[in-house]
Amino acid sequence: MKALVLSGGKGTRLRPLTYTLPKQLVPVANRPILHYVMDQIAQTDIKEVGVVIAPETGSMIKESLTVNPWGFQFEFILQKEPKGLAHAVMVARDFLGDSPFLMYLGDNLIGESILPFVETFQKAEAEALILLKEVEDPRLFGVAVIDEKGEVKRLIEKPKEPPSKLALVGVYLFSPTIHDAISKIRPSFRGELEITDAIQVLLDEGKKVKSHILNRWWLDTGKKDDLLEANRVVLDELVKESIEGEVDHESRIVGRVQLSKGARVRRSTIRGPVVIGEDTVIENSFIGPYTSIGRNCLILNSVIEHSVVLDGARITGVERLEDSVIGRNTTVGKSQENSRALRLMIGDDAEVRL
Ligand code: G1P
Repeated sequence: MKALVLSGGKGTRLRPLTYTLPKQLVPVANRPILHYVMDQIAQTDIKEVGVVIAPETGSMIKESLTVNPWGFQFEFILQKEPKGLAHAVMVARDFLGDSPFLMYLGDNLIGESILPFVETFQKAEAEALILLKEVEDPRLFGVAVIDEKGEVKRLIEKPKEPPSKLALVGVYLFSPTIHDAISKIRPSFRGELEITDAIQVLLDEGKKVKSHILNRWWLDTGKKDDLLEANRVVLDELVKESIEGEVDHESRIVGRVQLSKGARVRRSTIRGPVVIGEDTVIENSFIGPYTSIGRNCLILNSVIEHSVVLDGARITGVERLEDSVIGRNTTVGKSQENSRALRLMIGDDAEVRL
């Protein structure tokens, strides 16, 4: 069995971060989402992983996988235009050959091991196995109708009137018959070849499609609040205490805090769960629960809670920053004393609430 990880596409919902960073590399608890996807695949016996990349962001994706602790044999496959998930499978046809495969969208995070689904699929006589999760607004996703045995009856992409609340999670298992189904579909209303439509072709032809409903969380890191929620959940569940950086005797570390090497904490309190990246300096500040701070940041005289701060940011003299996402190499600081004026240099599509 092989794996196909889709890492192309445009991350419009996470702008402005995704103007300079592919959505798959947006960090959650200081690790790119894509690395959690690889952790998941590493739990199975799959060794060959095809990574579908886009011309604009492919080199960054490749670079983020050069350190390969999973020991995978990677093959990078260029999808020249974002023409849909089924189109990505077509582009990867040579890599996939006639092997069954696991397809995983590189920007999806799930709170459950995929190993049982892979094993179920390997034993089951089905052409596909899909993962589903009940969601509040199914109109944003592919939606499935299933029977009491979990067999899929019907699938529809982004329905205006959803027939159920079960959304397709971005993890799929396919036998090679999917290639034939893909050859029969036409572009959808959004001009893409939808994998959802290809699975519907399997159903129309009487082939068996199984499903599994996720019991735990699924985070489709769509917008700022989803990213903060993903960060919160991952910090809560995965962060273990580890202090490799320096903490002076005037500082307090409470709860699960991961302080990377080269990081320095002076006259500050850090209350976990928190992760702090390499070479970041925290001085005279309070870093509260559910906060991730990247590498090479400077936090001075500030209070930060429930936020994600990316590499190279400088935050000084901010009385209280919460529920915020701060992009790479940004500067956030108080104006001079006694001045009530705001002095801003804000990138495109940013959001500032004062
Ligand atoms: C894609 C699929 C959709 C699925 C979703 C999961 O949507 O087309 O069926 O529910 O991923 O993340 P997209 O992200 O392309 O809008």
